[in-house]
Amino acid sequence: MRTEIIQIRSESDFPFLKPAAEAIRRGELVAFPTETVYGLGANAFMPEAVKQIFVQKGRPQDNPLIAHLSRMEDLPLIAAEIPRSALSLLQAFTPGPLTIILKKTEAVPEIVTAGLNTVAIRFPSNPVARALIEQAKVPIVAPSANLSGKPSPTRAWHVLEDLDGKIPYIIDGGACTIGLESTIVDLSVDQPEILRPGYISAEDIYKKTGIFVKDYQAGGKEIVHPKAPGQKYRHYAPKAKVMIIETATSKERVRNLLRGITDFIKNSQKAAGQEHELESRMEDKVRRIGLFLDEDFAAVIRQNQVLEDLRKSRNIQIDYEIVSYSRKSGAEEAAYQLFDQFRLFDKKEMDLIICTAEPKKGEGIAYMNRLQKAASYHY
Ligand code: TXA
Ligand code: MG
Repeated sequence: MRTEIIQIRSESDFPFLKPAAEAIRRGELVAFPTETVYGLGANAFMPEAVKQIFVQKGRPQDNPLIAHLSRMEDLPLIAAEIPRSALSLLQAFTPGPLTIILKKTEAVPEIVTAGLNTVAIRFPSNPVARALIEQAKVPIVAPSANLSGKPSPTRAWHVLEDLDGKIPYIIDGGACTIGLESTIVDLSVDQPEILRPGYISAEDIYKKTGIFVKDYQAGGKEIVHPKAPGQKYRHYAPKAKVMIIETATSKERVRNLLRGITDFIKNSQKAAGQEHELESRMEDKVRRIGLFLDEDFAAVIRQNQVLEDLRKSRNIQIDYEIVSYSRKSGAEEAAYQLFDQFRLFDKKEMDLIICTAEPKKGEGIAYMNRLQKAASYHY
């Protein structure tokens, strides 16, 4: 199949969406931008079309999808019960990066909800997403438009990398402004609960609506990560191994970074069955390291030539690239870039990607959630 890319630069380009909207109506798949991540869309009322989403992504069938709507009037088509809390949340945060779980109607095919009696619903704010849904005249179910297990796509080229030749249309609407998937709030239960943290936090919800939703972390036990490779929670993952440098003083972070890199090299030598002194540089291959750091830490590493010194003192063969994000907006800026950086570093065939942690408040909760799922090492 030839994948056509439709570029949308402004509202005046919206008529170009027509073939894609018709493809959705016919039961074909279309990738489209939203404010969070790109989605892989299908007509919500055509089970055969929805099935293709699972096939093309390689997604397990027991993982339900989110239905995307453009108009509030269409909500009763798919939601059987609309509690007052849903109306408050929708009024406060939609259109926007929020998904709510409600009891579903008969009209929603089983394949959409993986057999559950609830359905995930979202009203994206991205104008291109809204125009596509409007033109298609049906709710569009869409997971993130990546191959299962890979980082969610936040730029059109990410989608092309994963789905070229598998779907008829990719709509290129530029970079997603948020860069992490929507906050999911379960409103089908007595005590509303955040199932997936996102840009909108429990605190935001409480402040704007007075509704208390159980926070994502509040109930769950913090997972204590061993300071060693752990594959268990790897997800949203680039090909390279991911290492988190936890928040600490600058001095401690430098020390942890150096220890992390040497441990990583020792471990990969062990894995390759070539355990030997780091000093015997002979058989050492060059390790490529991509660093995605807050600008303060990046400045410390650059100014003090930390990695240069490591190279000299330990005869460690490394190539590295430092990318930094602004401290001012912290997790927000980091979130906007994270999945893009994962893919850019993978293109450069990095062996290891090192990221700085962000404080777990506001969007930092969502950011750290995604980072932790991708990471094998914590220092
Ligand atoms: O920002 C987003 O939400 C993006 C864009 C494209 O809208 N979509 C997205 O979809 O992230 P996906 O499929 O990658 O993640 C959907 C999540 C899954 O974790 C799924 O388990 C959960 O929503 N989900 C869907 N229906 C559910 C339901 N009825 N009950 C509980 N969780 C549900
Ligand atoms: Mg996904």
